Amino acid sequence: MDTQDNQLARVMELFTTLLGERQSQEELHPITPAVPPEKLLDELPLELPDKGLSFDEVANRLRAVVRATPSTAPGRFYNQLFGGREPYAVLGDILASALNSSMYTYKVAGPQVLLENELIQRMGAMMGFENHEGTFTPGGSISNLCAMIVARDKTCPELRERGMDGTKLRVYTSAESHYCIPKSAAFLGIGRDNVVLIPADKRGRMITSVLAKAIDEDIAAGYVPMMVNGTVGTTVQGAFDPIAKMADVCEARGVWLHLDAAFGGTMAFDERYAETFLGSDRADSITWDAHKLMGVPLTCSVLMIRERGRLRASFDEAAEYLFQSDDDQWNPGTRSIQCGRRNDALKLWTNWLHHGTEGYVARTERMRDLALLAADCVRETPGMTLVKEPESLTVCFTVDGVAPATLCDALQDAGLAMVGHAIVDGEPVVRLALVDAGTTEEEVRCFFEDARYVMRRKAIA
Ligand SMILES: Cc1ncc(COP(=O)(O)O)c(C=O)c1O
Repeated sequence: MDTQDNQLARVMELFTTLLGERQSQEELHPITPAVPPEKLLDELPLELPDKGLSFDEVANRLRAVVRATPSTAPGRFYNQLFGGREPYAVLGDILASALNSSMYTYKVAGPQVLLENELIQRMGAMMGFENHEGTFTPGGSISNLCAMIVARDKTCPELRERGMDGTKLRVYTSAESHYCIPKSAAFLGIGRDNVVLIPADKRGRMITSVLAKAIDEDIAAGYVPMMVNGTVGTTVQGAFDPIAKMADVCEARGVWLHLDAAFGGTMAFDERYAETFLGSDRADSITWDAHKLMGVPLTCSVLMIRERGRLRASFDEAAEYLFQSDDDQWNPGTRSIQCGRRNDALKLWTNWLHHGTEGYVARTERMRDLALLAADCVRETPGMTLVKEPESLTVCFTVDGVAPATLCDALQDAGLAMVGHAIVDGEPVVRLALVDAGTTEEEVRCFFEDARYVMRRKAIA
């Protein structure tokens, strides 16, 4: 009889085979052409069977789906703030699935809880925190949401028990910040209208004099400022809000300072950013996504809180069927928005073991160098304009006579690259995200050769 153990051995072989096929496919055709969903629905065997399928049938169906899935492997994928397939991180991820721990209690997750804590402590220390606490979440949006919950509960200590009492809360964030901030304000009953968008300067950084004025005017008008969100690496321009100046504004007014370092947190490994991070130790909470720049598969985000006890004050509930030890320090479920929680820490820990801290320093510096190289390539290309000097790892540019969306589509249709477009200062731009440490200089140069080729074809057409 085929026991589960035998099956596991067979499916791991299948995994290796499918991955090998995937890599060969990526060598020949690195970019999957865009296919409309109707066509895929027609072509792919997606329907769920009444009777279980044989090993071979399962393998064939999986193969078809894998083949049609867009590649996010290095070298050609510059579309978003994640990417790549780092072996040790994948190993940690597979093992986490196989071990199937739930990260709410030490009782069921044992050392996984301890290594998760090691990561939280280490990453917080890099931000200048001491004696802090934290939690892993499924992404930067959820980390930011949790930070907003904690800030709200600190501002309105009665709210958790009694509900909203009509206090008019306000949140401040730059006009360049991520959309999850207004989205979370809606979830929390604060209202999207009560998210005050503070303008950014030419480099995409929040203007703190406007922030201070907005808060003071709101206080005078009867609002209660609940949180200031500083973005450490904005989604489009990769810009860093001035952390120390924001901390001055917040401390003077007793407002919670959150840093959304989902994208830029990893830049702390690069000494060239040391000054940029000055003041991070004065933040009340910090979000840092490892699935963006630390080379681990989605999802892996860490929320760190400077003052211990705040997470429990917002997320703890009595559940005698679950939390059965006296020492909840080792029961992360008492500090999490989730109940059952996947182990996202193991893949980051495994990858860190492999690279070491020095490896992370080197790769972060290399990614920044690639962004600078890409900016040079833009400058050297007639007809291309660098919109701004890259603040970190995104390079925004325009092309004479070709709309950014047209260039991006043409690169994908030609099977050359996946890259996205965005708006900077009201104008559409191509946003090249150099976030994958596996990308080489040659591949960056190749991207620009491909872009020139596509530009020529578009000019002729
Ligand atoms: C600055 C910033 N914050 C938050 C997020 C949301 O992160 P996630 O996609 O992990 O939810 C992003 C995503 O790109 C981001 O750029």
